[in-house]
Amino acid sequence: MKNQILHILPEDFPWRNQIQWYDVIDSTNTKAKVLASQGAPEGTLIIAGCQTGGRGRLGRSFASPKDSGVYMSLILRPNCSPSKLMHLTCAAGVAAADAVETVSGIRPGIKWTNDLVYGRQKLGGILTELSVNPQTGIADFAVIGIGINCRQQPGDFPQEIQSLACSLRMMTGKDISCAALAAALMVSLYRMNCGLHSQKQEIMARFSRDCVTVGQEISLLRGDEVRHGKAVSVNTDGELLVEFSDGHRESVTSGEVSIRGMYGYL
Ligand code: BTN
Repeated sequence: MKNQILHILPEDFPWRNQIQWYDVIDSTNTKAKVLASQGAPEGTLIIAGCQTGGRGRLGRSFASPKDSGVYMSLILRPNCSPSKLMHLTCAAGVAAADAVETVSGIRPGIKWTNDLVYGRQKLGGILTELSVNPQTGIADFAVIGIGINCRQQPGDFPQEIQSLACSLRMMTGKDISCAALAAALMVSLYRMNCGLHSQKQEIMARFSRDCVTVGQEISLLRGDEVRHGKAVSVNTDGELLVEFSDGHRESVTSGEVSIRGMYGYL
């Protein structure tokens, strides 16, 4: 797989010598965090054929069966305060959508803030983790973890997520190579990283166009509390502006947003 990726990447791609492949790993994000804390440079990519403990947001797991998808984590060294990185997950989402479009010809949507979707089904997800130096308050490293379903047929997903999940194969009817997608992701993430600060407005304008949450009736779950409203827009820090049923508006930065009609929320 690593050789296939290298074959596809441009010869002069700056991060091409920083790929670490594992046939099996618990979680590429966990490994990337360990390596980053030991000094691994920006552009180090951990990629695996299968994860036994793939992690998603909010403590969820991410099913990562053998050779069925791309499971990878990229180490970045942003060298700035975390407040300047509020849009990082959104930027990674746009980069991931670019890569999917490159290899499949179809642009997926993004469910705020970190899911790639096709129609009403989840194609993949992004888990961004940040480490901040307590002395300086500067982000020491960021790990961007991306998981995208590639080769599954509907029956390959566990029963409980069968109606909620899809893959590139289900999207296109074609067997799209995981190596091609991984290479496209590396290129689009490199480009994203180069413009992360200088092109923030453009990146977030693209996120807003891709975001399927905007304009939808949503419910916001925080702990035991459920509130209903309508998603109005996403600002340049990636916050979701929600208008609640009583008319007042609030920017939402965390918690779980469900869209009416998606992932089984009726
Ligand atoms: C989510 O659905 O909430 C995010 C899923 C992120 C999954 C990817 S797979 C590669 C990387 N390693 C992990 O353990 N998680 C991310």
